[in-house]
Amino acid sequence: MEAATEDSVLADFNDAEFVYFGRKTRFFRDGQAFRVTTENAQGRPETFTIAYTLGYAPLQQYLVDIGGGRLQPLPFAWDARERREGGHRWFHLYPKENVAPKNPLFWMNPIQNWNHMCGDCHTTGFQKNFSGSANRFDSGWSELGNGCESCHGAGSAHIEARRAAAPGARVEDRLRPLRTLRDQIDQCGVCHARRVRLREASADGGLRETMLDTWRPQMPHDGLYFADGQIRDEVFEIGSFLQSKMSAKGVRCADCHDPHTAGLKAEGNTLCLQCHAPETFDTTRHYFHQPGTAGAQCVACHMPSRTYMVVDPRRDHRLAIPRPDLSDRLGTPNPCVQCHAGRSNTWAAQVVARETAGRPGAHEFPLTLGAAAWPALREQTDAASSLRAFLDSTANPILKAAALESIRTPTTELLALAQGELNASEPLVRLSAASVFAALPPNERTPLLIGLARDPVRAVRFEVAPLLAGIDRTSLTSSQREGLDAAIDEYRDALNRDADRAESLSGLAALQLAAGDAASARGSFETALKRDPTSLTALVNFADFRRAQGEEFLSEVLLRRAEALYPEAADVHYALGLLLARAKRIPDAVTELALAAQLAPDDSNYAYVYGVSLYTAGRVDAALSVLAAARSRFPADARIGSALDAYCTEQRSRLPAIARESARICREINP
Ligand code: HEC
Ligand code: HEC
Ligand code: HEC
Ligand code: HEC
Ligand code: HEC
Ligand code: HEC
Ligand code: HEC
Repeated sequence: MEAATEDSVLADFNDAEFVYFGRKTRFFRDGQAFRVTTENAQGRPETFTIAYTLGYAPLQQYLVDIGGGRLQPLPFAWDARERREGGHRWFHLYPKENVAPKNPLFWMNPIQNWNHMCGDCHTTGFQKNFSGSANRFDSGWSELGNGCESCHGAGSAHIEARRAAAPGARVEDRLRPLRTLRDQIDQCGVCHARRVRLREASADGGLRETMLDTWRPQMPHDGLYFADGQIRDEVFEIGSFLQSKMSAKGVRCADCHDPHTAGLKAEGNTLCLQCHAPETFDTTRHYFHQPGTAGAQCVACHMPSRTYMVVDPRRDHRLAIPRPDLSDRLGTPNPCVQCHAGRSNTWAAQVVARETAGRPGAHEFPLTLGAAAWPALREQTDAASSLRAFLDSTANPILKAAALESIRTPTTELLALAQGELNASEPLVRLSAASVFAALPPNERTPLLIGLARDPVRAVRFEVAPLLAGIDRTSLTSSQREGLDAAIDEYRDALNRDADRAESLSGLAALQLAAGDAASARGSFETALKRDPTSLTALVNFADFRRAQGEEFLSEVLLRRAEALYPEAADVHYALGLLLARAKRIPDAVTELALAAQLAPDDSNYAYVYGVSLYTAGRVDAALSVLAAARSRFPADARIGSALDAYCTEQRSRLPAIARESARICREINP
């Protein structure tokens, strides 16, 4: 990140023009300044000055100050690749979506705010400094881009500690040598991970705080990652690398990367042959391609890449064995067919099986996260046995955590499994196990989670604080109460520091509501929507609040707004469906619940509620067929079976009258 100057700006500002869905943007010079005329939040052309550049290769972005200390990256980026690679051009970061001012993703909206979304990774010693009363940022940094102190922490503190110590005495070494994997996770991880902020790092750069004191990493399960932990969304590297056998054996980032040049330690296969025997692995026998060709690169099969920001390919740091045999079932990509376009997963799986059969020490493919967590993700009856086998088979904390977070509907067996991990020695496992209990009623989760309110790791405390905020405290011991109060205070303080975010303010509202202070909660929601009228979290939670306060009409208004902004959000349709059903507007409710079930076909609850709503609407045949389909997809969801059973019993006397298909379904259930 640099100030925009002749030297730093790569793009064409020579009266260049870019047309995005018919709307023109012009990039031009004005003396020393770099300027852009583009669409503003009102949909009118406005001229802005470029303040900073962000990135260098393969793309560069440009930041504009829109007032109130807010820096926003333009949605147009410069493709810095060579002309012959297709580069040297302006492009839009959402080329296909027609992002207009009403869209939450529009460049001037809070989702794109640099101060919250980018600054802490792209500068050194970043402080966000948002003032809620003034509604402005006074963000600061010690250096643009990433300098020595990004990794080593404040040098001044190191010097002071040295000066203060007696000659020859040991001082606490704040200039971390970063030699061990743990250190590299804590320091590299804060920027090379997809994560949620727990609390801003303290003013000294938070160097003695670990990753889990400032951030909660996203676990590598279905969603941001593919079901087997492969990269899907832009998730950076740590969450992947921690899954690997290599990290389990203590291999570090710095074994492959020179942290001071960001370059690789060696080129091509040589990088891997630092540790892996060339006579075993760098051979056609191992990789069944001609040496030197594209298919014979270690990274081609073990670190496949995915492209982000239109032009920026990144490699999967799971360093895993390609598993085309699992691709069809889990919906996961594999590197073979990424190169061999047009070939099937089955073809690739057969080649791998053929080529690896009878190898010395013949490889038995291990149980992977993807295969093990699949039954839980899809609510199959073998979910618990499959997860148990996996948890027993691995000691890897992030894999265990991801497996636990794959639990969708916690059955008694699955809860028992999670309970067994609540006291795990690894904080990642504890916090993921705790998250499973969010589905339980507060009085049931309290005895299990209360101990974690005093956990030494902040990420764990923050996981349980909101889950325990509203509980009945009479049964707690005084020390438990103190621990809980401290965790909630700390959590509230962190939310207040992020009061620029509608999500934080919604979290605050939930705490206030839990404390019985509905008036303050309402105020927090209103501020949240003032800060970000497009916040899905705030709209949905405020709607829920209003419904609980008996303001059904206003609740619907909020949900309709959310629906217009996020037509694809299944949870919004679901919430609307329930609201309408309560108001006895059954046909409208059915429409919304149908959309929820359609948009999130893997959610058993949506399928169930949709089926029930159809039945309530008197559409018996449709209800039976939806529920029957849901039952075969989600055999572990007992409610679906009971509903079918009850409806068929009710319809028994009418059996000859209902459609043949319905009669068949009912006979199957109860011959
Ligand atoms: C979690 C830390 C993190 C956040 C938050 C983050 N970035 Fe990055 N960004 C990175 C890292 C690390 C890379 C290098 C590529 C990688 O790690 O895969 C990168 C690469 C880039 C690049 C590519 C150019 C280059 O030099 O590699 C651009 C442009 C960029 N980021 C812009 C942004 C913008 C704009 C935001 C905010 C909307 C943002 N980043 C938020 C960490 C982050
Ligand atoms: C991206 C993170 C990062 C940045 C930025 C960084 N370092 Fe380092 N530094 C490391 C890591 C990691 C090690 C340990 C390397 C190893 O063990 O192989 C290290 C080691 C060192 C060492 C120990 C001696 C050595 O070479 O092993 C010194 C001295 C050092 N860094 C100084 C600096 C200075 C000065 C800067 C700024 C010019 C800087 N570092 C920037 C990560 C970083
Ligand atoms: C304060 C945030 C921060 C920390 C800490 C950090 N990085 Fe980075 N790193 C970045 C950003 C941002 C980029 C993207 C380059 C840019 O635009 O500056 C990057 C780029 C890189 C790249 C080069 C990527 C490329 O595109 O070629 C490597 C490799 C890398 N970092 C490794 C490390 C390692 C190893 C550590 C820990 C020793 C580390 N980083 C610590 C923010 C960070
Ligand atoms: C610093 C040493 C080191 C380097 C460099 C290294 N590896 Fe490894 N690798 C290991 C160790 C240690 C293991 C774990 C062996 C074990 O547990 O049996 C491993 C295991 C693996 C595995 C087995 C994974 C599994 O799930 O069974 C693969 C694949 C692999 N490495 C690929 C690579 C590739 C590709 C590169 C280069 C990009 C590379 N390694 C570079 C040390 C290294
Ligand atoms: C064309 C794809 C392909 C390429 C290229 C490839 N591998 Fe593999 N690799 C595999 C497959 C498939 C397996 C699993 C079967 C096996 O263990 O032999 C595997 C397994 C491994 C393992 C785990 C072995 C074990 O017994 O656990 C390591 C280590 C490894 N590869 C390293 C490398 C290195 C180093 C390179 C580059 C010199 C490389 N691979 C290139 C496909 C490839
Ligand atoms: C086994 C070797 C190996 C290890 C260990 C490793 N990397 Fe990489 N990394 C690579 C290779 C190879 C690339 C691809 C470089 C390229 O294409 O120029 C890469 C690329 C990157 C990039 C560029 C963007 C991307 O994702 O492709 C970043 C950033 C990065 N690594 C960070 C890290 C961090 C942080 C760690 C430690 C958590 C780490 N790497 C551990 C081999 C490794
Ligand atoms: C980076 C791209 C790339 C990847 C990844 C890759 N291949 Fe290939 N593969 C090629 C190319 C290019 C050729 C043709 C040149 C040659 O024989 O090396 C080829 C040739 C082959 C052939 C022989 C010719 C044919 O089409 O029947 C087979 C079989 C094959 N690959 C299977 C696989 C399997 C299985 C995987 C995954 C484990 C894989 N490849 C991964 C690029 C790739």
